[in-house]
Amino acid sequence: MPEPAEVQRGLQDVVALESRICFIDGRQGRLIYQGYDIRDLAARSTFEEVAYLLWYGRLPSAAQLSDLRARFGALRVLPGPLVQRIDQMPADVHPMDLLRTSVSALALFEPDETKPGASSIGGAQRLTAVLPSILGQFHRRRKGLPALRARPDISQAAYLVYALLDREPTELETRAVDVALILHADHELNASTFAARVTASTLSDLYSAVTSAVGTLKGPLHGGANERVMELLDEIGSVPRTEQVVRDKLVRHERIMGFGHRVYKVEDPRATILREWARKLGEAKGDLHYYELLRALESVVHREKGLYPNVDLYSGAVYSLLGVPPDLFTPIFAASRVAGWTAHVLEEYQDLRLIRPTAKYVGAVDLPYVPVGERN
Ligand code: CMC
Repeated sequence: MPEPAEVQRGLQDVVALESRICFIDGRQGRLIYQGYDIRDLAARSTFEEVAYLLWYGRLPSAAQLSDLRARFGALRVLPGPLVQRIDQMPADVHPMDLLRTSVSALALFEPDETKPGASSIGGAQRLTAVLPSILGQFHRRRKGLPALRARPDISQAAYLVYALLDREPTELETRAVDVALILHADHELNASTFAARVTASTLSDLYSAVTSAVGTLKGPLHGGANERVMELLDEIGSVPRTEQVVRDKLVRHERIMGFGHRVYKVEDPRATILREWARKLGEAKGDLHYYELLRALESVVHREKGLYPNVDLYSGAVYSLLGVPPDLFTPIFAASRVAGWTAHVLEEYQDLRLIRPTAKYVGAVDLPYVPVGERN
């Protein structure tokens, strides 16, 4: 038997599979979806176009795009029994927990969508369309907002704002959310996408794979970082305090959320784009408080640790300016990343090989078995 290779902790730099969906150049700070630079997509496309691109490998024609928009509109309605279940959940659970459980529960009402294989594109579209409805159903009840209505007429970005905040976003707000959704839609083999692909590689179904992914995204080292960034900003409170708060954290070996990345060795290109949107929205609303704190934070963290911002640093500032509460930031991330998760699951089904790495055993061997009555 061959000796196992050296352990790569956290699978760092391990090339686990081939994929056509997403490419990250960590040294140049570039992100490519199916051949298209994220900067072009963020400047010119929409979330619907990007979802199509991730699933089908090409940009849609006008007719294909309008068909997908219509499908999203039709697929936003939740099954009645799931609405009842969401309404029965405790109002104080974290929305990511609610989302994970609801995605899993949705599968019980949609057995036709849960057959692994090419037909899973239906489930991919259903889940992408419906995640804002799940979040809106929960958030509206806990805040006493009016019941969610079907809104087949509006874009996914505008629907997300309507579902969560019960209001029509301005053009600028819709574009800001659309850009945030585009930027979060995929990121190669990040932890949640890898979790989805591992689940799919056992020939399990798409809804199970997305349930795994939601649970993985939740952690503060992954998607949960954006919520923690806002906690940090509130702790800092004002620009002059930034230096002291950061230094205290670093002395305690705490991580500064929204900084550092496994793959990027320079600034995350998504952070560059979101920084501009945080400024633009802040100026439009006459509130640059978070923007100014974030700029100060960036400069201190770079000086003290040489770390660059990642996507999670500025997304929370954008959502806060819209009036979204911090515990919905990671769920919004999920409402976008679901397009990437499902694209990867579809790719996994096409090129299936059970993902099953191996471990270097460092435990004991040949211990003598002592019957329970004779143990100390
Ligand atoms: N704050 C303080 N120190 C850090 C940070 C940070 N944010 N990130 C890395 N470091 C230090 C770390 O302590 C270590 O130092 P030392 O060698 O002295 O022990 C060194 O940098 C290398 O860290 P690592 O944990 O080996 O690097 P990694 O590739 O495993 O970490 C990371 C990647 C994203 C988990 C990490 O940078 C981190 O914890 N960042 C904060 C959480 C965060 O913002 N996550 C969002 C990631 S991007 C989008 C997403 O996935 O949602």
